[in-house]
Amino acid sequence: MMALLSFWSFILVGCFAVSLAGASSLSELYPALWEESPGQFSDFKVENNVYIINPWAYLDRMGMYKILLNNTARYFEKFGPENEQNILWGLPLQYSWQHKTGRLADPSKRTSCGYESGDPLCISVDSWWADVNYFLGALPFLAAVDSGILGVSPDQVKLLPPPKDQMKFCYDVSSCLLSFPEKMTKWNLFYQYMQSPSSNFDGLLKHLWDAHSASLENTGDRFKDRYAYYSKPEEEFGKNWTLIVEYLAASRFPTTMIRVHEAQKGLPPRILLDTDVAPFISDFTSLQNTLLSGVNIVSSTHKLTGSSSLTLWKLLMNTQLARRVIVEIVDRFLFIVN
Ligand SMILES: *[C@@H]1O[C@H](CO)[C@@H](O)[C@H](O)[C@H]1NC(C)=O
Ligand SMILES: *[C@@H]1O[C@H](CO)[C@@H](O)[C@H](O)[C@H]1NC(C)=O
Repeated sequence: MMALLSFWSFILVGCFAVSLAGASSLSELYPALWEESPGQFSDFKVENNVYIINPWAYLDRMGMYKILLNNTARYFEKFGPENEQNILWGLPLQYSWQHKTGRLADPSKRTSCGYESGDPLCISVDSWWADVNYFLGALPFLAAVDSGILGVSPDQVKLLPPPKDQMKFCYDVSSCLLSFPEKMTKWNLFYQYMQSPSSNFDGLLKHLWDAHSASLENTGDRFKDRYAYYSKPEEEFGKNWTLIVEYLAASRFPTTMIRVHEAQKGLPPRILLDTDVAPFISDFTSLQNTLLSGVNIVSSTHKLTGSSSLTLWKLLMNTQLARRVIVEIVDRFLFIVN
């Protein structure tokens, strides 16, 4: 168990630098096509006083995040300037990583959805990543609408369905509350806590990760028929990644802009192929190879111990002191390497 703990700390240390790392302004770290995405409701199509958003188009889905980040900025002002400390940055940045690495395109390659040669900004419903991301995009957005912080009423927003499997998703506040009550409730609780004057950073992280975990619960499996379109390593990486997120959740990893941006340098820069074996992937950086090996080791340990490694990790991360130690290790390490 100590080995797991030290290994995990090592992974955290290796990945999460907290510096601007060469960027001269925060806007260089924004998700792909952030500036081009809709930033207010009036940028979307309106029909009978209802805003129509197409979450199967890259810019529209990003637009939901942009509105969310804009309208929550004031609650994070007390933690730092320029909205950098907004812990919701993790969501659009991960979505942007999926786009840049080809993970939102049609993995079956039956359509040109998501490819340069066809419609590069199309999001394929056959993409496992895109489907799972829906639960971390549409749901937090609609819950924010429901909680009143976006300034529109719940019956004023409708999302468009994908070309198939429409029953697997929900499209407005009322139907999402009906279909996914636990997930929506957890996001609502986060927004409620965020608005309370006594909210603190650690509490915000706790509520955010609770909602994040709830959104992912049973979600990957809901789209398991998509695995057939991927190589074995990519399928396993997807499954293993949802597991890793549980460990991140327990440590309440601070998903602020710079931290997430730095961490993403360790994520696989393209879809994994059958021949990819970490840490020997020649076109990956050593950080990317190390992170992927780390993902393997944590996943194997998890399975070998029948998930008691996660129970133990949660126990260890139960005190603010332990979580601080992890962040401290990270920051010290960076001080040394920088
Ligand atoms: C939010 O959006 C408004 C209007 O688009 C803009 O003026 C403002 O600067 C934005 N605020 C933040 C924190 O991004
Ligand atoms: C996922 O984890 C399993 C162990 O549970 C491991 O065998 C496999 O190599 C991992 N794959 C990736 C790509 O992380």
